[in-house]
Amino acid sequence: MYLCLMHIDIITVLPDLMQSPLSHSIMKRAQEKGLLTVQVHNLRQWPVNEYGQVDDYQYGGGAGMVLMCEPLVNAIEQLQKERAYDEIIYLTPDGKTLNQRIANSLSLKGHLLLICGHYKGIDQRIRDHYITLEISIGDYVLSGGELAAAVLTDAIGRLLPGVLNDETSALTDSFQDNLLAPPVYSRPADFRGWRVPPILLSGDPKKIEEWRHEEAIKRTEERRPDLLKE
Ligand code: ADE
Repeated sequence: MYLCLMHIDIITVLPDLMQSPLSHSIMKRAQEKGLLTVQVHNLRQWPVNEYGQVDDYQYGGGAGMVLMCEPLVNAIEQLQKERAYDEIIYLTPDGKTLNQRIANSLSLKGHLLLICGHYKGIDQRIRDHYITLEISIGDYVLSGGELAAAVLTDAIGRLLPGVLNDETSALTDSFQDNLLAPPVYSRPADFRGWRVPPILLSGDPKKIEEWRHEEAIKRTEERRPDLLKE
C-alpha cells in the first residue's frame, strides 16, 4: 500500500458529471494505488431551504443564477473541519490560465479543495473570503467548472510520484521543459510506403535522444514559438 500523497475535495452541483473522467486509465490507477483520493461533494447537501435551493438571481438584475454564499460557506467550513487545505481553488474563465508550471506546483501540495461554479458563477464574497487561487483552463466559457476541475485533477494527479511508470513518465511530456513533445512512431516501420525516420531504428540511444530533442525544438518553433521566450 502506498502513502496517499494528495487528497482533492470537489464541491459541485453536478457530482455525476465528475465521476466518469476520474474513473479511467491513469486517474483510476492513481486512486487504486491509494496515491490520490478524490471526494466529490454535492452542494445540494447544504441547501438554504427544504427545496434544496443553492442558487439565486443576481442583484442588479440580469440573466443567470448565482451560487449563493450560505451553501458554499457551510460546505467549505464543514470540509475545513476535516482538513486544512493548501489551496481552495475556484475554476473560472477569469482565473489564471492553467499551464504545466501551475500543475507541477500544485502536485506538490497535499490537500486541495476545488469549487465548481455553475450558471453565472459564485457570489463574489466567497471569492473574496475563501478562495486562495482562481484557475481557468483556457480562454473559452464552459457551462460550469466541473470539466475544468476534472482537467485540473488529471493534470495534477498524473504528476504524483508512483502514478506513472517508466512507460508513461511525465518527464517526456510536452511542456515539461517548455518544449512540445517530438513525433512518435510505432510498428510497422513501413506502412504504405510511409517510413519511420531511420534514426529511430538505429538502436543508438544517444543519437535517438538528440534527434528527439531537435524535433521537439523544431516543433515548438513552428507551433508555439511563445514557449521558447518564457
Ligand atoms: N468555468 C467555465 N469556463 C471555465 C474555464 N474556461 N475554465 C475554468 N472554469 C470554467
